[in-house]
Amino acid sequence: MTDLNGKVCLVTGASRGIGRASALRLAGAGADVAVNYLTSQGAAREVAEEIRQMGRQAAVVKADVSEPDDVQAMVEFLGTRFGRLDVLVSNVASGGFRSLMDTTPQHLQAAMSTNVTPLLTLVQAARPLLERAEGRAKVVAMSSHGSHRALPAYGTIGTTKAALESLVRHLALELGGRINFNIVLAGLVETDSTRSAPPEAFERARAAMMVDGRPLTAADVADAVVFLASAASDLIQGQTLIVDGGASLRG
Ligand SMILES: NC(=O)c1ccc[n+]([C@@H]2O[C@H](COP(=O)([O-])OP(=O)(O)OC[C@H]3O[C@@H](n4cnc5c(N)ncnc54)[C@H](OP(=O)(O)O)[C@@H]3O)[C@@H](O)[C@H]2O)c1
Repeated sequence: MTDLNGKVCLVTGASRGIGRASALRLAGAGADVAVNYLTSQGAAREVAEEIRQMGRQAAVVKADVSEPDDVQAMVEFLGTRFGRLDVLVSNVASGGFRSLMDTTPQHLQAAMSTNVTPLLTLVQAARPLLERAEGRAKVVAMSSHGSHRALPAYGTIGTTKAALESLVRHLALELGGRINFNIVLAGLVETDSTRSAPPEAFERARAAMMVDGRPLTAADVADAVVFLASAASDLIQGQTLIVDGGASLRG
């Protein structure tokens, strides 16, 4: 089993969905975890409580990651509380499903501010803490097939995911000497954010997967996060790990 004993992790958007699953899986592997949330305080506290029941430390941190001042304050809190950061999982995204013809510049800018810019502001603010990591520090960003494919009603988010993946590779180029930057690219997982996805998208994804008909879950994605957070991935740099049950092999 992957050993993250004593590692300090921050997962953004950890109150629900894939972020929540990642926080719990990291703690299950032995890590102490800071659970970031924006509006779901009760859910974030429940995640932290589950982590504590595993015998790990947990902190609950409210911060809007699209606000650089919030990011700075969150990182300062982590510095005071933990003194270093071994793993940063930049998981938050928003944007909504809509046609590009109904998308305003404000929609696109808002999605960039939530889905792309936080990775940069987080890494800039947390760099001193990441450089105090035990072993190599790990940064993991969360992407989707919209980064490289065209999906119905997904133009805004897909555009931001393409930018996010490029940002990861360029961060690796600048800071890769001390920190690993990688991407987990998830297939379609049922979470609050995908409940409004076209229903046929789930049917298509499930039919294309090669896992005996079982759905892709947030925990499956979180397992890839744990791998990229661990020393087992020390030599993996600037890469995208696709977790979709093989669905994308079918085109
Ligand atoms: N679900 C999928 O099928 C899928 C597929 C591929 C990639 N992904 C990616 O996986 C990531 C997580 O998606 P998800 O489906 O798990 O989302 P989700 O269930 O909707 O959860 C979103 C999380 O982000 C938090 N959040 C939203 N805006 C925030 C902000 N400005 N500052 C801080 N926290 C904020 C929410 O916190 P509060 O509730 O506290 O506000 C919540 O914890 C995203 O990057 C998404 O693009 C998802």
